[in-house]
Amino acid sequence: MSAAGLTGQTADGWRYDGVARAFHWLVVAMLVVQYSVALLLASFLPKSAEEALANWHFAMGSSVCVVMLARLLWRLTHTPPPPPVDLSPGVRLLSRVTHWTFYAGFIVLPVLGWFAASAHGAQVKLAGLIPLPMLVPKDDPFGKAMQTVHPVIAVMLLALIALHIAGALYHAFIKRDGVVGRILPGRDAGVA
Ligand code: HEM
Ligand code: HEM
Repeated sequence: MSAAGLTGQTADGWRYDGVARAFHWLVVAMLVVQYSVALLLASFLPKSAEEALANWHFAMGSSVCVVMLARLLWRLTHTPPPPPVDLSPGVRLLSRVTHWTFYAGFIVLPVLGWFAASAHGAQVKLAGLIPLPMLVPKDDPFGKAMQTVHPVIAVMLLALIALHIAGALYHAFIKRDGVVGRILPGRDAGVA
């Protein structure tokens, strides 16, 4: 099959298509903001600042969920470029599991956060605009459990992000096999 005949790839077939690359870096930018705000939330803040930051956290977090759902839809309907031929089966499996865990994780995590917020009695607005219903009543036991589980999963996903970036840096600076160029923005990133 010719590379140009595959959907979801550039004409030469070795890179992710423009939409997939745009989704990748949009989500990276959103998560940088999201984790930074979460870090601030964990520090001692005056009540008013805490409330404003929590609303930011709900707005950006719920947006991540929607963007990841759209990205998943795109991913399932567009063929990604084939993996580099010299990847060992173990590394290939690890990267596939990591990528699918990101999709599942950043869709489920915000929903667990929504349970946690509802158990606090806090109103969540999708993207800060559309009011969402309470998922559980205030002080609901499941919702309260999510106030512990949600941050734990968030930190686990952050560790996975560190592993993913370490893998990307290994490809860019040690293997120098062009894998990072597959996801970089720009018309032709060349070999990275
Ligand atoms: C990708 C999306 C998200 C990430 C990475 C994330 C990450 C985090 C992290 C790291 C914390 C711990 C901060 C701290 O200790 O204060 C946290 C707390 C929290 N998050 Fe999220 N979050 C996300 C989405 C959401 C959403 C969409 C909601 C609500 C709709 C939400 C609600 C909460 C609540 C209520 C807490 C405080 C839990 C508690 O201590 O009671 N999060 N989040
Ligand atoms: C918030 C942080 C990040 C998340 C959640 C994330 C998530 C993902 C996901 C889900 C994929 C798979 C795309 C698909 O096949 O559908 C991917 C691919 C990729 N990411 Fe990231 N990424 C992050 C940060 C980064 C950074 C900072 C770099 C570079 C330094 C990077 C480099 C790559 C590369 C090179 C690929 C393509 C791998 C391949 O061709 O098999 N990512 N990323």
